[in-house]
Amino acid sequence: MMQPACATGHDSGIPTILVAGGAGYIGSHMVKRLALSGYQVLVVDNLSTGFRDAVRHGQFVEGDLADAGFLDRIFVERGISAVLHFAALSQVGESVLVPVRYYRNNVANTLNLLDAMQRHGVQNFIFSSTAAIFGEPGYTPIDERHPMQPISPYGRSKKMVEEILADGDRAGGLRYVSLRYFNAAGADPDGELGERHDPESHLIPLVLQAASGRRSHIAIFGSDYPTPDGTCIRDYIHVHDLCTAHLLALEHLLAGGASLALNLGNGQGFSVREVIDTARRVSGREIPVQVHDRRPGDPAILVADSRNASVKLGWTPLYPDLETIVGDAWSWEQRKSRSW
Ligand code: UFG
Repeated sequence: MMQPACATGHDSGIPTILVAGGAGYIGSHMVKRLALSGYQVLVVDNLSTGFRDAVRHGQFVEGDLADAGFLDRIFVERGISAVLHFAALSQVGESVLVPVRYYRNNVANTLNLLDAMQRHGVQNFIFSSTAAIFGEPGYTPIDERHPMQPISPYGRSKKMVEEILADGDRAGGLRYVSLRYFNAAGADPDGELGERHDPESHLIPLVLQAASGRRSHIAIFGSDYPTPDGTCIRDYIHVHDLCTAHLLALEHLLAGGASLALNLGNGQGFSVREVIDTARRVSGREIPVQVHDRRPGDPAILVADSRNASVKLGWTPLYPDLETIVGDAWSWEQRKSRSW
């Protein structure tokens, strides 16, 4: 891994990286990776969905991206080299119910952040985007040429930001890497951090809560999809590998590289039933299931073509197999079920 060397923070010559949303699931793993890679890390989070105790490294400042004065103080005082932006609402179903909240959080607050960057001459931006920008896939695996036709306010909010970023790049003064995560999963291999949503809505943590007895069963949302076992297929990508992609994207921008938008997945899909079977094997526990109706807005199959990330950033996932992803998530679930 290249050592951080080019842009600098105020005091030490070591780049300072602002992580917005660093108390959330992926953000907190990234804060740890950046710190262990030698960067100075400044975490900004309003703790609306994140957890203060998930920030184990760097400096934490509680604050809101809606507050331009707060952002000015942060940028003036610290000499920031790049911004990693994880601070967003991310539940597809919820976004259908409260779309304005999603657009305000995900679009308006991102504009505030970009404005502050511009006022303070910070050019480098890494954006957490999503497979949800593509909508119902026209073909699979999904590469970057696939049309963006999101079917939820969440997906549309992320697509809007991608368009704003492309315009910012064309106008000059902004360089960005937009990373479209497929299904982020797993937990810190050291066992220090993991996935925490309240309430939980994602498949793997819910399945493992059923395995540990914190939940009576797992509901399968639809068993009549046009897939081999009738359940939805997703491309699960280890949070450690997502963090690696962010580190490489950061090095790319700090070295003067051009803006990019990249899909991140393993290129291999697993059905809901396959995930549950893997969780049974990994945990050695019974996992009762109930088949429910389809959840609105779920495409049958979402699998990434991530060859561009490999070509442009040299990214190779270290933990592509589902057993490892579920195994790390299971270690975290066992820790949680003991202490929460
Ligand atoms: N599922 C169940 N039962 C559950 C929860 C989920 O059967 O209790 C199914 C879903 O229907 C889906 C699959 O498991 O088929 C995965 O669902 P998740 O909620 O874990 O993840 P999604 O694929 O819905 O969403 C993820 C991210 C979003 C992102 C999206 C891209 O969480 O932020 O991928 O499509 F937008």
